[in-house]
Amino acid sequence: MKVLITGAGGMLGKALTSCLESRDHQVKGLPKEELDVTNYAQVIETLDAERPEIVIHAAAYTKVDQAESEPDLAYLINGYGTENIAVGCNKLGIPMVYVSTDYVFDGEQNRPYHPWDQTRPLSIYGKSKLAGERAVLHHLNHFYIVRTSWLYGPHGRNFVDTIHQMAKDGKPLRVVSDQFGTPTCTLTLSETISDLILTGRWGVYHGTDGGVTNWFEFARAIASDFKVSVTPIETKDMPRPATRPKYSVLDKTTLVHTLGREVVPWQEALAMYLELKRDRQLA
Ligand SMILES: NC(=O)c1ccc[n+]([C@@H]2O[C@H](COP(=O)([O-])OP(=O)(O)OC[C@H]3O[C@@H](n4cnc5c(N)ncnc54)[C@H](OP(=O)(O)O)[C@@H]3O)[C@@H](O)[C@H]2O)c1
Repeated sequence: MKVLITGAGGMLGKALTSCLESRDHQVKGLPKEELDVTNYAQVIETLDAERPEIVIHAAAYTKVDQAESEPDLAYLINGYGTENIAVGCNKLGIPMVYVSTDYVFDGEQNRPYHPWDQTRPLSIYGKSKLAGERAVLHHLNHFYIVRTSWLYGPHGRNFVDTIHQMAKDGKPLRVVSDQFGTPTCTLTLSETISDLILTGRWGVYHGTDGGVTNWFEFARAIASDFKVSVTPIETKDMPRPATRPKYSVLDKTTLVHTLGREVVPWQEALAMYLELKRDRQLA
């Protein structure tokens, strides 16, 4: 397929580009410098010139805490920017993938969320991503919305790299143990999205790695090769500008049915990533 990727300079954008290229798709990965999704004229011109068979929209404003103090920018990129892509895809008859987040949920129901469960974001970031979902649902019939969570992978600032480096440096760690979710590697998510776009089964999906954990247990797993103390703390002991959901595990039943295969457990994906870091000496 001829695939156009927005936000191709980002952590997921880079992983998607490599994954799709390795599967012999014709990939046009555009970083922000080449396609600013908030520029409608540029979006239309680019889509018209490239005429991809599908657009994967991975560009986003992703600074969860900073969004609380610059909501206009978060909405501009995640809401209006996504609407620009959706309107452009609608005009030219191109299907679209929109990558969304578990932060569209409030985390209060204490069981995994299905794609059809009620959304209620607690943060500006979550609200702005939901605005993007609504734009896709409004303008397109042929789309995949893929909600994911707790991303890490090569080529991006992320929790795994930060904790790994701190543990390597022997720095003691204090990590919250009362927020539950599922870590997801960009490499496995890229495989999921690459499989999904071949199905033609449009809709809203939950695409994370398998299982459930909290940030403390996740940190312990990341630091397990090092002799460093990891202490559990509560969210109230580490106040942050944005409120996070307490339990934002996503139920993947419909994704598993559509793909005809299970997802990789988070522990397995993490082990694969840590091995990759060792082999390639990734920072
Ligand atoms: N990271 C997570 O834990 C997580 C969890 C759930 C869902 N997601 C979603 O997954 C997707 C990928 O996230 P990621 O972790 O790969 O984030 P990322 O590394 O921050 O990548 C996002 C990319 O979008 C670019 N961008 C920002 N504004 C843009 C604009 N106006 N036009 C074009 N590109 C623009 C960013 O460029 P600059 O950096 O130069 O601004 C960055 O390269 C996003 O939709 C995000 O909401 C992420």
